[in-house]
Amino acid sequence: MSDLNIAILGFGTVGKGVHHSLKSHQSRLEKVLGKSVRVVAILVKNLEKHEQSREDGVLLTTNYEEIINLHDLDVIVDAIIGCEPGNSYLQKALEKGIHVVTANKEMFAHHGEELLALAQKKGVTVGFEATVAGGVPVIQTIKQLLQVNRIQKVEAILNGTSNFILSSMRKDGHSFEATLQAAQENGYAEADPTNDIEGYDAFYKGVVLSQLIFGEKPNEQSTIRKGIREITADYVECADELGLRFRHIVTLFKGNDGVQCRVEPVLISMEHPFYQVDGVQNAVSIKTDLVGTVQLQGPGAGMYPTASAILEDIIQISRPVSTEPAYLEYQGDASSSSKWVFFSNNRKLELPYDIKVLARLSDKAVVVETEEVERIILEHPLLTFFELIGDYRHTTEKVIV
Ligand code: HSE
Repeated sequence: MSDLNIAILGFGTVGKGVHHSLKSHQSRLEKVLGKSVRVVAILVKNLEKHEQSREDGVLLTTNYEEIINLHDLDVIVDAIIGCEPGNSYLQKALEKGIHVVTANKEMFAHHGEELLALAQKKGVTVGFEATVAGGVPVIQTIKQLLQVNRIQKVEAILNGTSNFILSSMRKDGHSFEATLQAAQENGYAEADPTNDIEGYDAFYKGVVLSQLIFGEKPNEQSTIRKGIREITADYVECADELGLRFRHIVTLFKGNDGVQCRVEPVLISMEHPFYQVDGVQNAVSIKTDLVGTVQLQGPGAGMYPTASAILEDIIQISRPVSTEPAYLEYQGDASSSSKWVFFSNNRKLELPYDIKVLARLSDKAVVVETEEVERIILEHPLLTFFELIGDYRHTTEKVIV
């Protein structure tokens, strides 16, 4: 029985998770693959820091050339961050006919297309399940769906840290800063948490999905990327009283001007499945032409959920599913939504008389149904507004309709 030899690039939360999981699931992998999986090398930045991780028969090095020149290396697992050196490392690996598996969404959003083309030329595989939604098998599911279905729209919670912060602010009344620190301690947050809070991380994941589903990147001109910093404890409390919850959502669909990607905080009604998705959970709703809407939910960040996605990819390398994506032609703008929540920010809420008001929370917030949101925003620049997703039938005593 031959071995499957693996090198891990980067030994932070993700790299360590992969290393531990390959050991803890060794016999299971052996049964599934018919061969044993061995970590033969680990690339670190600082040898001293990882001295206690040194093992017999495992090359621990800061020099990538030593790894790439190993004989019989089958798979490189990329668990480093940022576009470089990740992209160059993976290109070199593919050139040499080595399979790669990556968790690096920023790098893959920018260079995924070239890497996949190179892999195809060299007859090897690039696994990227771990780049989107942590342990939730969204990439394999989409590949599977695309064999028959055409995907019309995706709505998703793709950043565990933001969802963790928004739900903790509501449930525990904890401050933004304290919750962010907990997310960092749990290994959910990026090295620079600005990427989580400002929506860059979710956007990179949206780009990866866009390329997989539609075969192209989102149109830069129409891309919206907003973070969660503007959401105050006061907004969270008002929303709760209105029966709504904040979620940081990625929306992806193909319009007249290419793929539209919106990353922004929205309010979710009780009737919507994302209402219950709390903590570090991610959720993905995939609207298709044949099966209808498929939803996936699970842990979107953390050591072992991410390792699980990487191990799944390692298994797929030995038995790949071929996919010829059926890209969707334009079928109308799937983005139009007509429900919005306006927060007054202590100013008088005076909206045009012809607007349908669904609920009002004293002078603090109002839920409206309108097709004229752009006009309202222009005429009332001091209001803060969020889109509302899902049916809305909420009433409480405090709400005057
Ligand atoms: N920082 C990311 C998140 C990690 O919170 O979702 C997983 O990609």
